[in-house]
Amino acid sequence: MVEVKFERVKKVYDDGTVAVSNLNLTVNDGEFLVLLGPSGCGKSTSLRMLAGLEDVTEGRITIDGNVVNDLSPGARGVGMVFQSYALYPHMTISDNLSFGLRMEKGEKRLSKEEIDLRVKETAELLGLTEQLGKKPKELSGGQRQRVALGRAGIRRPKVLLMDEPLSNLDAELRNQMRTEIRRLHDKFGTTTVYVTHDQIEAMILADRIAIMEGGELQQHGPPLEVYNNPANEFVKGFLCKHIDEIVDTANRIFDER
Ligand SMILES: Nc1ncnc2c1ncn2[C@@H]1O[C@H](COP(=O)(O)OP(=O)(O)OP(=O)(O)O)[C@@H](O)[C@H]1O
Ligand SMILES: [Mg+2]
Repeated sequence: MVEVKFERVKKVYDDGTVAVSNLNLTVNDGEFLVLLGPSGCGKSTSLRMLAGLEDVTEGRITIDGNVVNDLSPGARGVGMVFQSYALYPHMTISDNLSFGLRMEKGEKRLSKEEIDLRVKETAELLGLTEQLGKKPKELSGGQRQRVALGRAGIRRPKVLLMDEPLSNLDAELRNQMRTEIRRLHDKFGTTTVYVTHDQIEAMILADRIAIMEGGELQQHGPPLEVYNNPANEFVKGFLCKHIDEIVDTANRIFDER
C-alpha cells in the first residue's frame, strides 16, 4: 500500500514567496493523480517537496505512512520524470537506463545479470530495444522521453512523479505518449503524481485531478465529477469553460463542413 499524504503543507521560498499554502491531499495507493493549474500556482513546488528537492516549510508529507520531510530524495523511493529529459549525453541508452541501478549500494544492489534483465525488459516495454547501443543525440524527442520514463521506472519506485513530461513534444507524439504513460501505469499500478497545466491532458490521464490556484488546492475528484460539479468560479473558468469552448469549436467546425 503506497499512499502519499500532504498534511497542512506550506512552502515559503527564501525571498518570501508563498508558493503553496495549507495543502491537504491524499494520493491513494495505485492512483494516477494529476495536479492541474495555471502557471505559477504551485504544482512543481508541491511535486518537488514530495520528491525531496525542496524543503517543506510547514506541515508534513508521508509516503507509505512514513514522514519523509527530512529524508534525502534517494531514500524516498520516488522516480521522477521532468520536461527536459536530462539524459547523460555520453552514455549509451542502455547505460542511461541502468545508471540508477548501478549506483545502488547495500542490500538494494542488484547483480549484473539482474540489471541486464531489467534493462532488456524496460527497453521492450518502451519500444527501445533497437536503440540500446545508441547515444541520446541519435534519438528523437519522443524516444528520449521514453528513455527518461524507463530510467524512472526501472528502479520500481514506490511513487512515480512526472512534471510536464510531454510539453516538449509535438501534438501527435504527445497523444501517443499519453496513451503509453497510462498503459504503463495500468500495468504496474504505481502510485503516480503527474503535473500539467493542460486541462485536456489532465482529463484524459487522471483517476483524480487536484486543481490548484495561487498556491491553494481548489478542488479534487474524478475528472468528470469535477467538470460537472465545479466547486468555485475559478474551477468553472479554468476547467469547465475551457473544455466547453473546445467542444463548441469542434461542433462549429463540424457544422461548417
Ligand atoms: N526557487 C524559487 N524561489 C522563489 N520563488 C519561486 C521559486 N520557485 C518557484 N517560485 C515561485 O513559486 C510559485 C509557484 O511556482 P511553481 O514552479 O511551483 O509553479 P507551477 O505551478 O509549477 O508553474 P508552471 O506551470 O509555470 O511550471 C510561483 O510564484 C513561482 O514564481
Ligand atoms: Mg512547474
